[in-house]
Amino acid sequence: MKIVFGCDHAGFPLKDAVIDHLRAMGHEVVDVGCFSNERVDYPVVGELAARKVASGECELGVIVCGTGIGISLAANRVKGVRAAACSEPYSAEMARRHNNVNIISFGARVVGEGVACSIVDAFLNARFEGGRHAQWLDMIENILP
Ligand code: RB5
Repeated sequence: MKIVFGCDHAGFPLKDAVIDHLRAMGHEVVDVGCFSNERVDYPVVGELAARKVASGECELGVIVCGTGIGISLAANRVKGVRAAACSEPYSAEMARRHNNVNIISFGARVVGEGVACSIVDAFLNARFEGGRHAQWLDMIENILP
């Protein structure tokens, strides 16, 4: 699967571990940065990653900032993207099964490498269940700005 990865400077410490993990599972990773510890604006990276998913170039995304919150808020501004910040695997699994999340987010100041990889696994191994959940997602989609 083609998966976009994005992080800001706060997420950078987890970058190699997460990308290595994705590649070890046979996924192709599209890396939209950042590329060092130097400060960057997480909204820029969140949007870049989100556009890769919204355009269909990448099927899913993994984004990381300090908490996972700011970068997911940015990604969620792009139509067609449903990003969720999850600090443990159960939420990541349910985010896909019930909320059809297409970008998972977490914080490098919140989780370590092991939990981060477990979150990624839970997200990738789950499948959207549809049914009543699709109806609720439609309702979210139809909320006026
Ligand atoms: C950067 O200091 C930090 O604010 C950012 O990575 C993120 O946690 C924001 O939500």
